[in-house]
Amino acid sequence: MNNTKSFFIKSFGCQMNVYDSDKMKDIFISHGLSPTDDYQAADYIVLNTCHIREKATEKTYSDLGRVHKKGKTDHKIIVAGCVAQAEGDLIQLRAPYVDLVLGPQSLQLLDTYLSGPNPHLKTITEFDAIDKFDTLKRFKTNNHSKSSFVTIQEGCDKFCTFCVVPYTRGSEYSRSIPEIIEEIKKLIDQGVIEVTLLGQNVNAYHGPDETGKERGLSYLINKISELDSIKRIAYSTSHPNNMTDDLIELHGNNTKLMSCLHLPVQSGSNKILKLMNRKHTRELYFEIIEKLRKHKTNIALSSDFIVGFPGEDEKDFTDTIDLINQVGFMNSFSFKYSPRPGTPAADKKQLPLKVQEDRLKIMQTLLNQQEIDFNKKFLSKRVEVLISSSGKYKGQVKGKSEFNQSVAIPGNPNIIGNIVSVQITDISVHSLIGKAEI
Ligand code: 5AD
Ligand code: SF4
Repeated sequence: MNNTKSFFIKSFGCQMNVYDSDKMKDIFISHGLSPTDDYQAADYIVLNTCHIREKATEKTYSDLGRVHKKGKTDHKIIVAGCVAQAEGDLIQLRAPYVDLVLGPQSLQLLDTYLSGPNPHLKTITEFDAIDKFDTLKRFKTNNHSKSSFVTIQEGCDKFCTFCVVPYTRGSEYSRSIPEIIEEIKKLIDQGVIEVTLLGQNVNAYHGPDETGKERGLSYLINKISELDSIKRIAYSTSHPNNMTDDLIELHGNNTKLMSCLHLPVQSGSNKILKLMNRKHTRELYFEIIEKLRKHKTNIALSSDFIVGFPGEDEKDFTDTIDLINQVGFMNSFSFKYSPRPGTPAADKKQLPLKVQEDRLKIMQTLLNQQEIDFNKKFLSKRVEVLISSSGKYKGQVKGKSEFNQSVAIPGNPNIIGNIVSVQITDISVHSLIGKAEI
């Protein structure tokens, strides 16, 4: 063990990778290494990668090339995450200088790797979520934020025809309630007051309670609410088919649950939803939204959309635009369809790039406008903001509203960690500006 050694971790993609990166950080620190923001000086460089779209995957290889050329010569390069899982052999071919390839369900073995030279640990891509979480809980959390992610569920059994997740993260696994509560209590000891529960299919959660009885997400959220120190709870990301009535009702009767929901719909066309194997219709989506708004009138909704999926014609695209207009979102993510090797839709006839790009532009213009309209309603109003960090400019701090909007205010960093009442004075496309109400 050498106290002077350092590590650098870059996280790509989803929030679950951010969580995994934090866990790798805990392992490195337990081995006496310290974090650095300078990859060129780091002894260990970790790229925690994303495989969801081709662009994200290619970023891994371009970053690897840069790290290899410019970094120290005696450093170790580790590729973790979903590209590691999906393309372990290819990484060895395209970047033979990589020292370790570590799949997302095997990242706990970083501990073994750091414990001593082990030439056999080259590519580790076992699916062992139980071992992962069992091992990870041995490490002290090094969280210095008031808000934290907590992975409660991993993997997916839904097999949407565009998606690599069932192949890279494996089948659905839910952690037990006592284990999750134990992790949150440790976070509370570090000052955490807000948790975002994570899972690729978080509302499919079905973990055992202390008696072994299987429980759903609403039960878990209520259990977490009993912890006084936790002031806010959110969850991401959900599937419409798992939006059960008890979960919908919880939005109306659990005051710690944030007033927002990310519920990806992907398309507003029943034909495309079928081709995507989403196993739900646009009508079901509307029904869920209607019920949600009945229980929580002002709930802020966000979604994910894919444009230019194989088979999408003008009418299908118009159906999606119609769905967006009918629902009204606070913010959303939209992507051009990217064929992923090994997934069913990748073999289908692809749409011309120009069509995809034109449709994406139309969609993003509409979604941006909806976000501005949503934010505008807050002008001169008050929102509760959990101040979590320094802002972009000097003398500024920022945080999230209960609707998950970014809010910046002039303020002293000593208010970081508090929920403050903010009067909104200005808006930009993706954030709000205000001043603290005294
Ligand atoms: N192409 C484009 N977007 C995709 N997503 C998942 N797979 C693909 C793909 N092959 C999007 C979906 C999902 C989000 C995380 O990424 O919208 O909800
Ligand atoms: Fe991917 Fe989500 Fe579909 Fe699962 S439900 S296959 S994670 S898009």
